[in-house]
Amino acid sequence: MMKGKELYRGKAKTVYATDDPNWVIMHYRDDVSAFDGAKLAQLEKKGETNNKINAFIMGRLEEAGIKTHFGKLLNERESLVRAMKMLPVECVVRNICAGSMSKRLGIEEGTRLPSPVFEYFYKSDALHDPMVNDDHIRVLGWASEDDIQRMRILTRRVNKILQPLFANTGIDLVDYKIEFGRAVDEPEGPLLLGDEFTPDGCRLWDTQTGEKMDKDRFRRDLGNVIEYYREVAKRLGVPL
Ligand code: TMP
Ligand code: ASP
Repeated sequence: MMKGKELYRGKAKTVYATDDPNWVIMHYRDDVSAFDGAKLAQLEKKGETNNKINAFIMGRLEEAGIKTHFGKLLNERESLVRAMKMLPVECVVRNICAGSMSKRLGIEEGTRLPSPVFEYFYKSDALHDPMVNDDHIRVLGWASEDDIQRMRILTRRVNKILQPLFANTGIDLVDYKIEFGRAVDEPEGPLLLGDEFTPDGCRLWDTQTGEKMDKDRFRRDLGNVIEYYREVAKRLGVPL
């Protein structure tokens, strides 16, 4: 697979073309960003750590029947994925109240929710990813009614797979964000899970100690960010 030109540079990953228009290379950089790019840094080994954690999680989700864009690991920092047209919506599930839900509703961080709470956010750094509901998404034409329902179902299914996976390694899956789209060569095909699943886009707390093992360590200046990401990988059995 030949690496071609840069197609898109996000806050933590760069996407490159290949010689096949239906496949692209996702390159995980060491950059870390928070608060919609307002806080930026570089963390040595973050790229390779996230690349490998993501490959592992995508593999487990595929095994459990979730269709994803993931192809294969190419090297330390790069994975081959299907070229996608993404829906401009982020899907969040919360098992434990934290972050923006705690702030918005005045509920103490760490409050366990009796059942998972689902939220949509509109992907826009300029607007700081505002929370939206299914009416906003449908009326503004960001996704069809079917896709809106499907994203909700798939996001909850991912929770049923990943919550026990993390729990078995002594980690509480507090919340996470995922994104969906369609492969460019299958515009009428099924919704596929795209982007990534890494400690950058979820909250992971040590079940015993409550220690944060995710990007909140960077957002809140708690230190040892990569050490904790690598501990997550180690517990999952991801070879680094
Ligand atoms: P929040 O508490 O800030 O709304 O975030 C909920 C979860 O979703 C948390 O694990 C972080 C993740 N998330 C992202 O990764 N990117 C985003 O743009 C948003 C809004 C949330
Ligand atoms: N993902 C966003 C950013 O990189 C928001 C965040 O994680 O705080 O800026």
